[in-house]
Amino acid sequence: TYVVTENCIRCKYTDCVEVCPVDCFYEGPNFLVIHPDECIDCGLCEPECPADAILHEDDLADEQQPYVELNAELAEVWPNITERKAPLDDAEEWNGKEDKLKYLER
Ligand code: SF4
Ligand code: F3S
Repeated sequence: TYVVTENCIRCKYTDCVEVCPVDCFYEGPNFLVIHPDECIDCGLCEPECPADAILHEDDLADEQQPYVELNAELAEVWPNITERKAPLDDAEEWNGKEDKLKYLER
């Protein structure tokens, strides 16, 4: 399965949802997640993210491993998102910033 990782936080560009053939993205206030049981591993979303936040689970760095569980957990509680919307206001400013996990809103 593919996983949304830290750099989506406070950016939420949503380009990813536009290409997903199975609509398996779920939306929180400042982050998106992929439902691991619904993702069909097509890989279409990965190159679409301007923040390079989407990776296959096998390509995650050690420090990104917690995002596997975080995607699974939050996909169960957040609503589905299927259409692109405007990024968050400060998306460009936050793109690439480190240590964004502490800003994750649930
Ligand atoms: Fe959707 Fe394909 Fe991305 Fe999985 S890999 S989230 S199915 S676009
Ligand atoms: Fe997030 Fe990238 Fe999608 S920033 S909302 S994973 S396009």
